[in-house]
Amino acid sequence: MSPDTATHPRSVTPVPTHMSPPEPPHHRSGPVSSAIGERPPFGPMRRLDHGQLLEEHRVTLASPQRQYSMSSKVLFWLMDRVYGEERTLEKFRVLELVARVPYQAWENVAYVAVTHTANQPGFARRVFDRVRIARWEQDNEQWHLLILEELTAGKTRGGFLRSRVIPQVLAFSYYQLSWFLYALRPSRSYRLNADFEDHAEHEYALLVQEHPEWEHVPYAGEFTDDFGDYDSLADLFRQISFDERLHKLESEHMMAKPRFS
Ligand SMILES: [Fe+2]
Ligand SMILES: [Fe+2]
Repeated sequence: MSPDTATHPRSVTPVPTHMSPPEPPHHRSGPVSSAIGERPPFGPMRRLDHGQLLEEHRVTLASPQRQYSMSSKVLFWLMDRVYGEERTLEKFRVLELVARVPYQAWENVAYVAVTHTANQPGFARRVFDRVRIARWEQDNEQWHLLILEELTAGKTRGGFLRSRVIPQVLAFSYYQLSWFLYALRPSRSYRLNADFEDHAEHEYALLVQEHPEWEHVPYAGEFTDDFGDYDSLADLFRQISFDERLHKLESEHMMAKPRFS
């Protein structure tokens, strides 16, 4: 008998020394990741059916825009200068990249506040509700971003600077502004965000109006499990526009009671 056959009898497939035997399914993720895996991610803020989407689209188109603050006007002006006044999916992708950061800033400030108020557990618990709201809102904005990334993948974006560097600089600056405003004058931070969300709500509604052909384009993207199935690309953007309205209404509501209480 040769040394090979002595070590590996013909009936047994040898296992290469660099590979481990397959793990049982329950070992493939840790206890936390498997527990999270059983919970659906937070998708649309409130899912509407086709008829409701049509109705809310009409409501947005008929509603006036907010009176924007000077800082909001500067931000929108800057976006128009860099990405043009035309409503393109590329411009919406950049808008969504920036849109999440106030919620990240608010979550961070509120989480620090929980730490500093933990000696008043009832109060800290109410502050923690702000943390949860900010997390849900940024998760919702994240789906908007990923869907826009998906829809613009492989399209010409005007170079690395305009498509990647400037959006990151905008998002970083907007995060810092939101963080300091929220820590010092939270009502100002809520107002800035209400302006941003109002602008997004109306821009998406106008985008749908400008593309009647999208009524017949199905959305069959990668994120239907996370964000839902839609009859058409038009309905997908109507849902996103409605999400933006709910973000705006939440910020307007918070403007009336900006401080933790
Ligand atoms: Fe969004
Ligand atoms: Fe938004």
